[in-house]
Amino acid sequence: MIRLCPSILNANFDELPNEIAKVARVSDLLHLDVMDNKFVPNFTFSFERAREIIESSQLPVDVHLMIANADKEALPYLETKAASITVHLEACEDPLSLLTEIRKRGKRAAIAIKPGTGIDEIRELLPALDMILVMTVEPGFGGQKFMSEMMPKVEAARKWLDEGGFGDTWLQVDGGISPNTIASAAEAGADTFVAGSAVYKAEDPAAMVTLLRQIATQ
Ligand code: DX5
Ligand code: ZN
Repeated sequence: MIRLCPSILNANFDELPNEIAKVARVSDLLHLDVMDNKFVPNFTFSFERAREIIESSQLPVDVHLMIANADKEALPYLETKAASITVHLEACEDPLSLLTEIRKRGKRAAIAIKPGTGIDEIRELLPALDMILVMTVEPGFGGQKFMSEMMPKVEAARKWLDEGGFGDTWLQVDGGISPNTIASAAEAGADTFVAGSAVYKAEDPAAMVTLLRQIATQ
């Protein structure tokens, strides 16, 4: 099954309910990029603002936490109605405990790796994971170029999931996903796609989500 998760990073922050409504009928989850200006050189939302967006979204929310000291700083998000919470391996001291806690609160637990982090580093976490996020850009900004050199990581993760019987664990890619790049990510084995600027810079964001889904399904 293919899932499309528009990222509102490049949407108009002053009109978020309207921006979310544009894609709600054709999307699976809303991807919310939380940046703290420490883990990445950019800031998006405070916890309070993120919570408002999560609580009011028409779509289930996939929270991507690009925040330092995730073992502690991610905890408030466990109290929200987020559907999925992704933390970065590079920002956790004890990823297994954090992921276990996320699951215990009834949310999908996910780990993300930056382009410089090898896929082998998350292998032992597989039983605790509901989703793996292979970043296809350096986290921090929308509108960057898709890094096709990340595809071997996606292929390796796909093999582990299929061969290990992790049928309910999703494999997400995030960064530079567009009609030109989504096919190669899908071929490598990704099933869950974040798209920010491709969707929100399109004249018709919903039509773009539908087009991306069509290409990824082929
Ligand atoms: C980047 C964010 C992405 C970003 C993707 O750090 O994690 O979710 O919004 O934007 P595009 O699709 O423009 O690369
Ligand atoms: Zn993201």
